[in-house]
Amino acid sequence: MDLRDWLDRAVTAVRSWEAGYGEFERHPSLRVDPARFDAAFGELTTRLRDNYPYFHPSYAGQMLKPPHPAAVAGYLAAMLINPNNHALDGGPATSVMEKEVVARLATMFGLAEHLGHLTSSGTIANLEALWVARELHPGRGIAYSAEAHYTHGRMCGVLGMPGFAVPADDRGRMSVAALDELLAGGRIGTVVATAGTTGLGAIDPVHEIAAVARRHGVRVHVDAAYGGFFTLLAGLEDAAGLDPAPWRAIAGCDSVVVDPHKHGLQPYGCGAVLFGDPSVGRLYRHDSPYTYFTSDELHLGEISLECSRAGAAAAALWLTFELLPPVAGDPAGLGSVLAAGRRAALDWSSRLAGSSRLELYQPPELDIVCYYPVPGSPAAGSAAAGTPAGLAAIDRESARMLAEGMDDKEHPVFLSTLTVSANAFSRRHPGVTADADRARILRSVLMKPESETYLPTLHARLEALATS
Ligand SMILES: Cc1ncc(COP(=O)(O)O)c(C=O)c1O
Repeated sequence: MDLRDWLDRAVTAVRSWEAGYGEFERHPSLRVDPARFDAAFGELTTRLRDNYPYFHPSYAGQMLKPPHPAAVAGYLAAMLINPNNHALDGGPATSVMEKEVVARLATMFGLAEHLGHLTSSGTIANLEALWVARELHPGRGIAYSAEAHYTHGRMCGVLGMPGFAVPADDRGRMSVAALDELLAGGRIGTVVATAGTTGLGAIDPVHEIAAVARRHGVRVHVDAAYGGFFTLLAGLEDAAGLDPAPWRAIAGCDSVVVDPHKHGLQPYGCGAVLFGDPSVGRLYRHDSPYTYFTSDELHLGEISLECSRAGAAAAALWLTFELLPPVAGDPAGLGSVLAAGRRAALDWSSRLAGSSRLELYQPPELDIVCYYPVPGSPAAGSAAAGTPAGLAAIDRESARMLAEGMDDKEHPVFLSTLTVSANAFSRRHPGVTADADRARILRSVLMKPESETYLPTLHARLEALATS
């Protein structure tokens, strides 16, 4: 699977399609001097080296990795045409592809009916779901977990709606009892359940949240921007298998967001929002005298808050799904990619459990592992080995490991940090002295399937860093 072959085929196919429209003269204003192109391109590729190696399993930090070659080839082929999926005249082929991939996502979540579309990001997808929530329950607020993505609070501000953070339990999942109490007050119109939190990868109990919400006449939106594709592992008879209850419950919720540009192997610019009730499309109704003229079929711009959207994003996802279908139980499907990362997280947690230098912060629910240098070890900065170190030392050591890992010229390793409150830390590790009100711990998203085989190397590297 050499990417260069597919890129070449993409260019050839589009050039051949273009040739069918007859000769015309390219305007000289677009011409550039080849020598200048060469120099500028050289500078571009040199400057691009100033990046972290997201492709390599030694990059075990944030949710970042390059797209699958199929996504790159699909994106490039369509981008050379540059369709716009706003209206059917802007991107007839890619609009149909978008409807097809959204239907595949709906099937993946078990939605009986759906209305949905791709977006430029998870933030915009969630914004649309919250906007629909506001239109259906004007004057009522949004409840989301204290561990929910920060953009929910911000988007409530954008939409002029009150947002309420519901406390999380000692595993970072929304407290259903606290939610019940909040909903009893009658001020909430929609609750956001997060299926895979950004920090810890915790899965809110969507099934329990939905039951409580229904009792109070409240809508449920599921933010599965990061975690959504893990539904492919729900109920799987495999080490990577997940408790199906929260995942199955998504089918009965009002809306769900999933980001193909996270676990769907896509380049950035690909989120998705789906509604279980297609009639919410009426809320988007607007007049656009200069579009929607080629067909009475649904133009995606008629059900989207954004206007222009890349048809290439739909093409890339369509080609990826043809090759790696988002179908549970398909060994050649996308689920196998996620399963490898999940197994890596499980493997790492047992290695961390046996480590005297590193400690697991909490058991991983998906593929995000959070851990910290062991208090009292010489590495944790205590005055003497055996003296329990507190949060301040853990914070310092985590920062040191992050920096030294990245700076190491020979064996670099790239992590991320998560800031946790003293209260959250103490609930998980009461033995650690809370001598600061918060601390950074280490966090690794194992979203590359290669993490599974690389894990022994990664763990050994971190053990060494913890003692250096
Ligand atoms: C759970 C969750 N929701 C929303 C977002 C925001 O998505 P985006 O960065 O695509 O806007 C993220 C990003 O990490 C996320 O993890």
